[in-house]
Amino acid sequence: MTTPLAELHMHIEGSLEPPQIFALAERNGIALPYNDIDELAARYEFTDLQSFLDLYYANMSVLRTAEDFGDLARAYFRRAAAGGVTQAEIFFDPQAHTARGVALEAVVEGLSDAVASSEREFGVKSGLIASILRDEPVLHANKLLDDLLAMQAPIIGLGLDSAEAGFPPSLFVDVFAKARAEGLHVVAHAGEEGPAEYIWQALDLLGVERVDHGVRCLEDDALVNRLVDEEIPLTVCPLSNVRLKVYEDLSEHPIRQMIERGLIVTVNSDDPAYFGGYVDDNFAALETALGLTAREREILYDNSIKASFIGR
Ligand code: ADE
Ligand code: ZN
Repeated sequence: MTTPLAELHMHIEGSLEPPQIFALAERNGIALPYNDIDELAARYEFTDLQSFLDLYYANMSVLRTAEDFGDLARAYFRRAAAGGVTQAEIFFDPQAHTARGVALEAVVEGLSDAVASSEREFGVKSGLIASILRDEPVLHANKLLDDLLAMQAPIIGLGLDSAEAGFPPSLFVDVFAKARAEGLHVVAHAGEEGPAEYIWQALDLLGVERVDHGVRCLEDDALVNRLVDEEIPLTVCPLSNVRLKVYEDLSEHPIRQMIERGLIVTVNSDDPAYFGGYVDDNFAALETALGLTAREREILYDNSIKASFIGR
């Protein structure tokens, strides 16, 4: 039997592979600013989070219909299953689509159709987490949640992503309170590029159940103790951290130290089409760079199930 493995931190738009970008552009009659896949692939060198986000949002222009979103999610489930993922809780960025004139209904319909059949089609149980773009006005976040609730979108949670520094969790207290009151799970990106203080805020002000990234907690011992004591999982994304220059090289990644300190760490791909691979690629890279042991792998797999909202 396959060992259960949950992927808990991946943005479905970040699984949009270059060949798919060209195929969708053709299907939707969209002119791309690149002549071919090689020219596009040459842009996948990032200096920081923002330099990645610029390309990530630009490439989304090819996603227009419910069918596009469904195809995107199905391609991810197929690839994730091949890499050993048995369940996935996937983020999507509704505001990145509605701002381009794509109806929220099309986004939700396409993704939720794929999610509804992922277990039957690919053997991957799944759920959707709508993510707020923290660098957009707070009012837009409130409206997004209201719209999702009004249409009874089949989401399991609310998240917070996009450019972190300068956009603290404290801005989003009201929308997260409402999400919790509605019975949604809540998570937030914190401590990726932003300071440890943003992790405290995510816990104290937003009431998050998991922290996405969270690697900068290591700068604050009291915070590490809090995360350990309260068993708050961290969804860590090793290849992403290197590609976005949080760490210079994977050999410098503190994931082993995090495990040793008792943090509930999980391994995830974040934006697999942009950062050099899927969950299995992240595990393989950790084995090469850090000599990740079989015991450590087992802990990371167990943690992913322990940290999941949808259960086994
Ligand atoms: N959106 C997609 N990937 C992201 C990341 N790594 N950090 C913040 N926002 C994101
Ligand atoms: Zn992320």
